[in-house]
Amino acid sequence: MTRIILTGANGFIASAIRQYNNDRFEFINVTRKQIDFTKPETVTPYLMEQDFDVILHTAANAQTEFCANNPELSHAVNVESAIKVAEAAQAKGAKFLFISTEQVFNGKTEAGPFTETDEVNCVTNYGNQKIEVEQWLNANAKDYVILRLSSMFGMAMPGVRPSSNFLMRAWNAMRTKTPAKFTPNEQRGMTYVMHLAENFDKIIALPDGTYHVSSVNNRTTYELCRWIAEELGYPKEEIDQYILPDNERYADRFRDYRLNADKLKGYGIDFGTVEEDLDRCLKDFGWR
Ligand SMILES: NC(=O)c1ccc[n+]([C@@H]2O[C@H](COP(=O)([O-])OP(=O)(O)OC[C@H]3O[C@@H](n4cnc5c(N)ncnc54)[C@H](OP(=O)(O)O)[C@@H]3O)[C@@H](O)[C@H]2O)c1
Repeated sequence: MTRIILTGANGFIASAIRQYNNDRFEFINVTRKQIDFTKPETVTPYLMEQDFDVILHTAANAQTEFCANNPELSHAVNVESAIKVAEAAQAKGAKFLFISTEQVFNGKTEAGPFTETDEVNCVTNYGNQKIEVEQWLNANAKDYVILRLSSMFGMAMPGVRPSSNFLMRAWNAMRTKTPAKFTPNEQRGMTYVMHLAENFDKIIALPDGTYHVSSVNNRTTYELCRWIAEELGYPKEEIDQYILPDNERYADRFRDYRLNADKLKGYGIDFGTVEEDLDRCLKDFGWR
């Protein structure tokens, strides 16, 4: 069985992938107990002791604000340690799967969806840290795959704790009757995490390069969250009360960082539309 080192093993993406693929692959979980990625010098000694065929590197400081406020610490985790992990994969002759983000396009002034060959343009530390690793891989690595993910969503289930996502944020606002604001000045993809997880066997077999992972979404973030609340069955009057527009956020410039995922279709992986993905998720969780 293929042995996969899974960093960030307690995280949302990693645990969803492991949950779905536990019978197909042998996962070796790497959490903070095994490696603290704030200390890049500890990465190589640990990994060189392990026996593996693939590394799926999901561990990161994934919050934009944290990376902005802690540039050195987040650089150590998101760049220096990530490169050490990639180097260990190279040294072991293993495949390296790196999780990047749609945020590499958050400085673009033109509209998306963007393809893998479009120039990146990013105005945040978080996105620029991902770009730095992508560039290192493109220049130095072989046997590697970069997955740029849209915003991912899902709900909590045993063994999977979702990180902040639009479905949970919209639902929390509605069920706790706590107004939440979402910007109409942004457009991005939103993909069901289990849709990624169930394609993992195909992803692992992809040739070297960068791939976009996103369902198709044509709503702004504010419209998306209102629509989610509708799909959850809440009446319009309540949605008007609890899902509010944040007109200030990104008022300076409309952000469109949607990803064009057509390249993956050529490998039999189709992320479809956000309507299909939400429907699937709500069915999985017995909502419909
Ligand atoms: N979720 C999304 O919508 C999304 C979209 C685009 C890209 N991504 C990328 O996908 C990857 C996974 O995201 P996620 O949503 O699964 O995030 P997550 O749930 O926050 O998982 C990140 C994992 O990294 C671990 N980690 C953080 N700092 C560490 C450190 N210093 N040493 C060891 N482990 C550390 C965390 O450990 P603890 O559990 O102990 O905190 C956590 O398990 C990230 O690279 C992120 O940039 C996510």
